Amino acid sequence: MNKIKKCLFPAAGYGTRFLPATKAIPKEMLPVLTKPLLQYGVEEAIEAGMDTMAIVTGRGKRSIEDHFDISYELEHQIKGTAKESYLTEIRSVINACTFSYTRQVEMKGLGHAILTGETLIGNEAFAVVLADDLCDNEEKGVLKQMSALYEKYKCCIVAVEEIAPEDSNKYGVIAGDVVKDASYAKNSLVRVNDMVEKPEPKDAPSNLAIIGRYILTPDIFDVLRNTKPGKGGEIQITDALLEMAKIGKVIAYKFDGKRFDCGSVDGFVEATNYFYAKDKS
Ligand code: G1P
Repeated sequence: MNKIKKCLFPAAGYGTRFLPATKAIPKEMLPVLTKPLLQYGVEEAIEAGMDTMAIVTGRGKRSIEDHFDISYELEHQIKGTAKESYLTEIRSVINACTFSYTRQVEMKGLGHAILTGETLIGNEAFAVVLADDLCDNEEKGVLKQMSALYEKYKCCIVAVEEIAPEDSNKYGVIAGDVVKDASYAKNSLVRVNDMVEKPEPKDAPSNLAIIGRYILTPDIFDVLRNTKPGKGGEIQITDALLEMAKIGKVIAYKFDGKRFDCGSVDGFVEATNYFYAKDKS
């Protein structure tokens, strides 16, 4: 099968940077305007042709399941009123795909969260969206761009963007050789041969940082099973991908579009202002 149909959303983290807002509400449910972050991610996956959403949750995340389900009481209350239109978008999301969930019992890092999702993914290539990286592109979403790239190259793909050198310790940072491909903008594809999780600026192999969009082939699960805890004592997807990169199976892609780091208050406010202005125009 060539097309990516499944999208994994690691959503078990605590969201400590948004306390106290995230004390009882999952950070993935914080809204930019009226829509939770996670719904933006799901819509991006649907636009890319995916129909199976696999969500790795944790304790205290039940509102995620309720969000992607019918609320009969609410439907009953607003049926036939002017407010019904507010539900149009979420209804079409629910109709367009299925949702399945598994819980990450212990927080042992992003790599561990992805491995926890294996039970929902099985033996096929899949996308990963970190919902707190909110992406926007008027014409073609980032996942749609990456899916098309996967169909051509059939290997793992990470979305990257250029960062200020002093920010390297917030990201996975990659290095590699430019791939010449006439269908893509110059220097936008890199065959990765090195990647480091959150290096200090002096140790960063480049200024290309991974943002929260990945396409992974299912052999990543075996690699993750054998990946030792790395940065912060956690099992890092960056370390597992480095193993794949060593055998030439990872491409980094400088995507077209905007990305907001909604895991930080600054990025969240920027995203809110951007979508508000977009909505008004
Ligand atoms: C994770 C990854 C990191 C990546 C980042 C993108 O870090 O570990 O490699 O660059 O997402 O947002 P986190 O933001 O979960 O600390």
